[in-house]
Amino acid sequence: MEKSPIKESESSKGETIGYSKKTFWDERFSQESGNFDWYADWEQLKPKLISYLTPSSLILNVGCGNSKLAYQMWKDNFKNIINIDISGIVISKMKEQYPNLNYIEMDATKMTFPNNKFDFVIDKGTLDAIMCGGDPNPPFELINEMYRVTKYNGYCCFVTHGNKESRFDYIKKCIGEDEKFNIIYEVLNLNFMANLINSLRNYSKDHSIKNGMNDKNVFIASLLDAFMNTYNKDDLSEEEIKENKKVELCLKLQAVINKFGGDKEKMKKELGKNPIDFKKMENKNDEGMRKKHCYLYIVKKLE
Ligand SMILES: C[S@@+](CC[C@H](N)C(=O)[O-])C[C@H]1O[C@@H](n2cnc3c(N)ncnc32)[C@H](O)[C@@H]1O
Repeated sequence: MEKSPIKESESSKGETIGYSKKTFWDERFSQESGNFDWYADWEQLKPKLISYLTPSSLILNVGCGNSKLAYQMWKDNFKNIINIDISGIVISKMKEQYPNLNYIEMDATKMTFPNNKFDFVIDKGTLDAIMCGGDPNPPFELINEMYRVTKYNGYCCFVTHGNKESRFDYIKKCIGEDEKFNIIYEVLNLNFMANLINSLRNYSKDHSIKNGMNDKNVFIASLLDAFMNTYNKDDLSEEEIKENKKVELCLKLQAVINKFGGDKEKMKKELGKNPIDFKKMENKNDEGMRKKHCYLYIVKKLE
């Protein structure tokens, strides 16, 4: 039976930023160096995924970006990983950084792999990026392509911002009623960087990350928020962080400041002479806050 494409309203509410476009990613990766893992990294995913993998599993990482996922899995003895991305720029950079790993420039919505090739296919953030475009076809194609190249009794999995209401039935519908599969669903905590990006968006008036980073109070409050959302609160009380450890904590987070092009010395100086008024930054209404979670869907392809 022909699969019916998904209607636009089910797929996305319209383009945001340009995440669905190759040109956006090429430009971003040509300006950006280093590595960045969207949502969650291997350490967080490992306990959830390990039981679906064996050292001989053939793994496909779809829309790998400059994530360290494959390298960290490789270090954990999963040596058969193919990484693909639509951006040739990031693929060249990753090949140079990790010459022992396998990187290929390829559009994940039109893969050249044969059917039923991989034991485990993973997408982290690519479905979400493609959904931003507002065109219902690319996300539908991505899900179907990932499913097509997965072996019977193998798994294709999605790590996404989309919760159960928005993605569970959607993924089922895309794969189609005639296919036999089951889906396991889990909620995961976001990593520090993802929490930081969300906090910057929450606190900056126009939800712009760039403006948030340029406003010192917003930036520091976001760092603290992200820290508290990510790490175990039992280790450090909120009061301890806000009142006693704020400067120390911010200095510890210099790596993040540097990553965003901030001037380390200037930042230190500013923090020293100008205490931050955190009271002003407290968000009275948590309703509108972005979520501290991402979601994992593991689809088992059945015969
Ligand atoms: C949100 S990032 C996620 C990167 C990485 N998976 C991670 O978890 O950090 C989305 C990635 O998907 C890639 N991408 C977008 N559209 C694609 C497509 N049609 N085929 C393959 N990759 C695509 C982008 O170049 C980008 O690297």
